[in-house]
Amino acid sequence: MKAWLLDDFTGTDALRLADVPDPVLQPGEALLEVRYAALNPADRYLAERQYPAKPPLPHILGRDALGTVLSVKGGAGLRVGDKRLLLRGAVGVTRPGSFAQRVAAPVENLAAVPEAWSDAEAAGASLVYLTAYQALTMWGPLPSGAVVLVSGASGGVGIAALQLATAMDYVVVGLSRSREKARCLESLGAAAVFDPHDPEWRLQLKNKLAPRRVDLAIDNVGGSLLPEVIDTVSDLGKVSLVGRLAGPVPNFNTGALFFRRLRMGGVAVGAYTNEESRAAWEQVVLLLARTGARPQVDSIFAFSQLPQAFRRLAQGPFGKVLLRVSEQ
Ligand SMILES: NC(=O)c1ccc[n+]([C@@H]2O[C@H](COP(=O)([O-])OP(=O)(O)OC[C@H]3O[C@@H](n4cnc5c(N)ncnc54)[C@H](OP(=O)(O)O)[C@@H]3O)[C@@H](O)[C@H]2O)c1
Repeated sequence: MKAWLLDDFTGTDALRLADVPDPVLQPGEALLEVRYAALNPADRYLAERQYPAKPPLPHILGRDALGTVLSVKGGAGLRVGDKRLLLRGAVGVTRPGSFAQRVAAPVENLAAVPEAWSDAEAAGASLVYLTAYQALTMWGPLPSGAVVLVSGASGGVGIAALQLATAMDYVVVGLSRSREKARCLESLGAAAVFDPHDPEWRLQLKNKLAPRRVDLAIDNVGGSLLPEVIDTVSDLGKVSLVGRLAGPVPNFNTGALFFRRLRMGGVAVGAYTNEESRAAWEQVVLLLARTGARPQVDSIFAFSQLPQAFRRLAQGPFGKVLLRVSEQ
């Protein structure tokens, strides 16, 4: 089969398309003919040695996929020809991933395509919705009408957080550097979207929410934006830390937390066990069915265009960037 190989940890520019043997199934695994794979910033982090997992090389990246079952080794309830999407597990992290024509995965990491979703919508959904679900639920339920602020709101996790929080009856405000993407987020249900580069954004948000403040902030960006995000949170509010697209946080003052008794916590979608992942995914699908929201696809690249797809991801997409691996 053809697969994109990572030979060293010098970044995604060094990936190369090569012929490799098909995966060999272990008991409890299925082989998928990949139709679509989806990109995530963590693929780039892993390729740059900025990720905890250090798989043996050459490695195949890719944590999200949708495909057709080609063979199964002892997995109950799964048949050849079934269409399945991949739930976040070890695939693409410590074992070969989905930037390949075929991928082997534990049967327990496979889920049916939710009703009415297209193949492309389903292919890139699991990692970002599971992440957003963890970020929204890790503090226990918030009261109905609670205000949730999402930074990097136009990305995969951001849109997932917006849609899930809306389905949970929370009020969502977002941050996006792009006016055009801000309008799209408002059409998906955001009550308001602010530009994090506008020095007045916190004041604008405060005026919009007054007398309320943010109950939960979901931060995908980090860097110098994080202290500003924290500044908008109410007394006893929470901050779910998801990503660090803008790098480390400079000059962090812990006083930002203790005077208002804020709580901050890290999100790690990879920390979900397979069982937790499946249970969370069931909730995600139920929540989205409640509002009719569907995953947002930004762009689909040909299998041979993985480097271009990574460049699109780095620009700041609106939803998920996919690879069309086969026409099937
Ligand atoms: N902790 C976990 O378990 C977990 C799981 C999944 C993802 N993540 C992390 O969460 C982050 C978001 O992931 P994603 O899949 O949503 O990424 P994404 O699809 O690339 O989108 C992120 C969005 O953030 C904004 N952004 C990008 N760079 C920025 C910068 N330097 N400053 C300000 N805004 C910036 C962009 O929106 P605008 O252009 O509209 O501003 C972009 O659309 C990544 O760091 C990823 O590694 C963590």
